[in-house]
Amino acid sequence: MLIKSLRLRYVFTKASADDGHLAGDSTRSVHEAEPYDEQTGSIIAPIYETSTFGFRKAEEVPKAVAGKRWFYSRWENPTVVRLEKKLAAFEHGGDGAAFSSGMAAISTSVFSFLRKGAHVLGIRDLYGGTFALLHEVLPGLGIGVDLVETTDLGAMARGLRKNTTIVYIESPTNPTMKLVDIAKAAKLAHQNGAMLLIDNTFASPINQNPMELGADVVMHSATKYLNGHADVIAGAAVANKKNAHRIKMLRSELGGTLDPLPAWLVLRGMKTMAVRVRQQNSNAMALAEFLSKHRKVSVVHYPGLKSHPQHALAKKQMKGYGGMLSFEVNGSTKDAMRFTESLKVASLAPSLGGVETLVAQPFNMTHTQMSAKERAKTGILETLVRVSVGIEDEEDLVSDFRRALAVV
Ligand SMILES: Cc1ncc(COP(=O)(O)O)c(C=O)c1O
Repeated sequence: MLIKSLRLRYVFTKASADDGHLAGDSTRSVHEAEPYDEQTGSIIAPIYETSTFGFRKAEEVPKAVAGKRWFYSRWENPTVVRLEKKLAAFEHGGDGAAFSSGMAAISTSVFSFLRKGAHVLGIRDLYGGTFALLHEVLPGLGIGVDLVETTDLGAMARGLRKNTTIVYIESPTNPTMKLVDIAKAAKLAHQNGAMLLIDNTFASPINQNPMELGADVVMHSATKYLNGHADVIAGAAVANKKNAHRIKMLRSELGGTLDPLPAWLVLRGMKTMAVRVRQQNSNAMALAEFLSKHRKVSVVHYPGLKSHPQHALAKKQMKGYGGMLSFEVNGSTKDAMRFTESLKVASLAPSLGGVETLVAQPFNMTHTQMSAKERAKTGILETLVRVSVGIEDEEDLVSDFRRALAVV
């Protein structure tokens, strides 16, 4: 017992990814950025559920305002900072910023690198909320925005303008599972003096690390794979120290900071991230293979399948193919609806990345911000079903889908 506690002490105080002690994703999920708690020795991060921090001496106040002491939790909080260090380690950045939602992370990051007269170049396939931000909110404020064909780097190169400050991408895309060559997109952006911002929610840091490929800011809906248990709304952005600082400064003003309690839940969720995501990768591959042979399915979108038009790119830039897939039910909108409501293991619900399998019909659930015409352009038909594959047993999932497809 004594030896065990001494060893843990050593792991928590000495080991870090920097000195090569924590190389594997599972070890890192458990131990990365989990410092020894000097006050109590607690193995688990304490929750500092406080809005503010008090002073014994009035002379200490200027030190706190200058950021050298805890002050007010909208600025910084020890539990939240602990999560931010873990996020930064997993996305190979200098620092992280935790947010009250994925959309708070995305909007604050985007606004951090805009200026008057700026132009944003994005891809057409985007999460509905991000599409609304880029397509409606920014143009309403006088920011120029163009959205180009997601898989066409030539169109991206032609779309860059002198005043483009941000190139914004997702890969894989929600829900169409298209990929963007991250390294090439980063190169194009940088040649033009712009930054590459990427939403890495669908892949998770276990399957893809965009900063290693040249991205400048990596964002997540931490609601999804980072937390992994469908019980929190949270967001994250990771960048080099300078850019992360800029994002955090604006976060303080816009106010999308994450509260300490959900931050602690994400910290807890991240401990099982590698184990969960590996099981989800393997279940998704099995389900994608099953669906691709089924006569009531016309097409399956999964980057792990050899039939995916960008499978070679997925192999190059992803470490795993992920737990997300989508497919077309070979029938009518009603057929697709009958399928989704007939599942017994999987549930019909928006969101993704949790331990339970969820299905969604993007046309009336996650992508309602797009017009029918815009959805059709990206391939979001009414028969498209998005699947967030959970960690259940593969056989149970396959038989659940087989049973529900028989109803179509
Ligand atoms: C890819 C992607 N990015 C961002 C978001 C927004 O995240 P949140 O709901 O945590 O604000 C979502 C939500 O579904 C998403 O799927």
